[in-house]
Amino acid sequence: MANIITIYFSMKGETIAPGMKLVNLDKGHTAQAAEFIQEAVGGELFEIETVKTYNPDHFAMIQEAKEEIEKNEMPELKRLPENLEGKSVVFLGFPNWWNQLPMPVISFLNKVDLSGKKIIPFNTSEGSGAGKGMNQLKKICNKSEIATVSEWKGSAVDASEDKIKDWARNQIK
Ligand SMILES: Cc1cc2nc3c(=O)[nH]c(=O)nc-3n(C[C@H](O)[C@H](O)[C@H](O)COP(=O)(O)O)c2cc1C
Repeated sequence: MANIITIYFSMKGETIAPGMKLVNLDKGHTAQAAEFIQEAVGGELFEIETVKTYNPDHFAMIQEAKEEIEKNEMPELKRLPENLEGKSVVFLGFPNWWNQLPMPVISFLNKVDLSGKKIIPFNTSEGSGAGKGMNQLKKICNKSEIATVSEWKGSAVDASEDKIKDWARNQIK
């Protein structure tokens, strides 16, 4: 069996649910999907976390993320995975932020070496899918084998446990 790690970035706290309703999540959508995947395929689970805390007000946070992208800022990360050398398969989960990879994910990908590994990307969004994220991923990880991204609607992840677990098992068959 391949040595697997599921790596993800996700925001807890305020987010917009369908109908433009604000909800407060204990766990972000991508985090929930990542947990389903790890439960299905085993291996390690790793969360990309920034040192800074994003604005807890969702609308302010959305602007904060936009400025980060415009300035090409690479947020400092709390830690990196310790045992990446031993992994051959990386499930990589990210939300769509302004139609691209969140800057914390770019910051992470620039700091680790995923050469020679198989990356299986998954994305949550409220409709746009991975956007430019896949091109960015392919450019940074140009020595990795990158599978087709799976895109899920964030607010539907909770109710999609079986579907996500089946998908994850199929990826490593
Ligand atoms: C800063 C920011 C920008 C976003 N931009 C988009 C977007 O361009 N298109 C889209 O469909 N969803 C967008 N979303 C919605 C998220 O992609 C969606 O809610 C996702 O499931 C959040 O994942 P998380 O709960 O794991 O953080 C954005 C969310 C944030 C916070």
